[in-house]
Amino acid sequence: MLRKFAIIGHRAPSSGKLNLNDLAGSCGRMDVLSRAINTALFLSHGIREDTEVMLHLMGGPGPARRILFQGSRLRGVHPDERAIAGQIGKALREPVPSIGHFIELHPGFLHSGGNIEQTIIEWKRDNVELCVLDASGELFEPKSHSQEKIGFLLSDDQPFSANEVEMMENLLVVSLGEKWLQGHSCIAIIHHLMDSQ
Ligand SMILES: C[S@@+](CC[C@H](N)C(=O)[O-])C[C@H]1O[C@@H](n2cnc3c(N)ncnc32)[C@H](O)[C@@H]1O
Repeated sequence: MLRKFAIIGHRAPSSGKLNLNDLAGSCGRMDVLSRAINTALFLSHGIREDTEVMLHLMGGPGPARRILFQGSRLRGVHPDERAIAGQIGKALREPVPSIGHFIELHPGFLHSGGNIEQTIIEWKRDNVELCVLDASGELFEPKSHSQEKIGFLLSDDQPFSANEVEMMENLLVVSLGEKWLQGHSCIAIIHHLMDSQ
């Protein structure tokens, strides 16, 4: 089953220069986002070919940008948070492509314009089963999800905004337990639950 993760970086810059020495500060918690990407894509030795990550950079300046990492094709990205942020930084120097138009910068590393609403539209069109991750949802049971593609939506260190909650209305909300966890931990738990199936 293809696993997809949509991660929203509310303050993460969508253009300009990333300061790799200050990922947790001036880069809109790029440390949190890179950690989540690292956990989603990398095994101890190798890459998860069954996984994709759509990172949403919402902090401006200018239009929002999405970066798509495709585990099955990804080359040139290493399992290191700073290196992942470095790759993202290279994309930020390029103009933001139009919404829904993906440009490949190198194999398995693409970018496009758009926000989470656009990702939801694209995933629905592609028959992805959508699950919003939220501690207050119904407990996530992998065996009740038999679709070929499953997509999880999660936020950074901030809650989903009211606007995002509206965009996610009517989607299934799943929980990994009552305690609020860090995003990368949620991703690790999902991989574990699905690997154990
Ligand atoms: C660090 S948490 C965000 C915490 C933020 N203060 C909030 O209230 O949403 C990052 C994301 O992980 C997911 N998450 C955290 N704990 C979870 C849980 N127990 N079950 C499901 N998803 C969870 C949610 O999608 C959340 O947006």
